[in-house]
Amino acid sequence: MKVDIRTMTENDLDVVLRLEREIFSDPWPRSTFVEHAADEIWGTLVAEVDGEIVGYACYYIRGEESHLTNMAVPTRHRRKSVAKQLLEYIFGVVTEHRCEYLILEVRPSNTEAGAFYEKHGFGFLHRQPNYYRRPVEDALVMVRYFDTDEDDA
Ligand SMILES: CC(C)(COP(=O)(O)OP(=O)(O)OC[C@H]1O[C@@H](n2cnc3c(N)ncnc32)[C@H](O)[C@@H]1OP(=O)(O)O)[C@@H](O)C(=O)NCCC(=O)NCCS
Repeated sequence: MKVDIRTMTENDLDVVLRLEREIFSDPWPRSTFVEHAADEIWGTLVAEVDGEIVGYACYYIRGEESHLTNMAVPTRHRRKSVAKQLLEYIFGVVTEHRCEYLILEVRPSNTEAGAFYEKHGFGFLHRQPNYYRRPVEDALVMVRYFDTDEDDA
């Protein structure tokens, strides 16, 4: 399913927050999305089809480091490559900024997301004990490296 990807706006927040609460046991509050939208190191994206939000993602870029901090697709729209398109968009931004890597955390119990990230070139970096709340769980920290060799330009 081909989606349109654009920056999240304040008008999207009611829908995004509803999805966030449906999808995650420890959802981000509205203030987190608002703060991120106002900060230039952050990217906040929505994926849309015919005006319906079918996914969203948040990341930040700081120097050579980039971090994927949130990504979600409502159940009824999964396995249609929505997350793939969001991730590819972010890969484009990360490459433009010449970041060396994109890092993320995922719950070990979240096998869907783990499989999705592995498919897209992320590898296991380390395990962070008790990283998550509600429920408390370790995080698997995963990383994908990018070739920033100037000679390739
Ligand atoms: C992880 C998530 C974002 C993937 O979104 P999606 O739009 O369904 O992903 P895509 O359709 O782009 O990619 C699907 C691929 O991911 C992997 N994958 C996704 N769900 C899977 C599952 N249940 N079992 C095995 N592989 C799975 C497969 O490689 C799959 O490819 P396939 O459909 O050809 O087999 C989605 O499952 C989600 O929102 N989960 C809940 C929120 C979440 O966990 N976010 C990440 C937090 S770190």
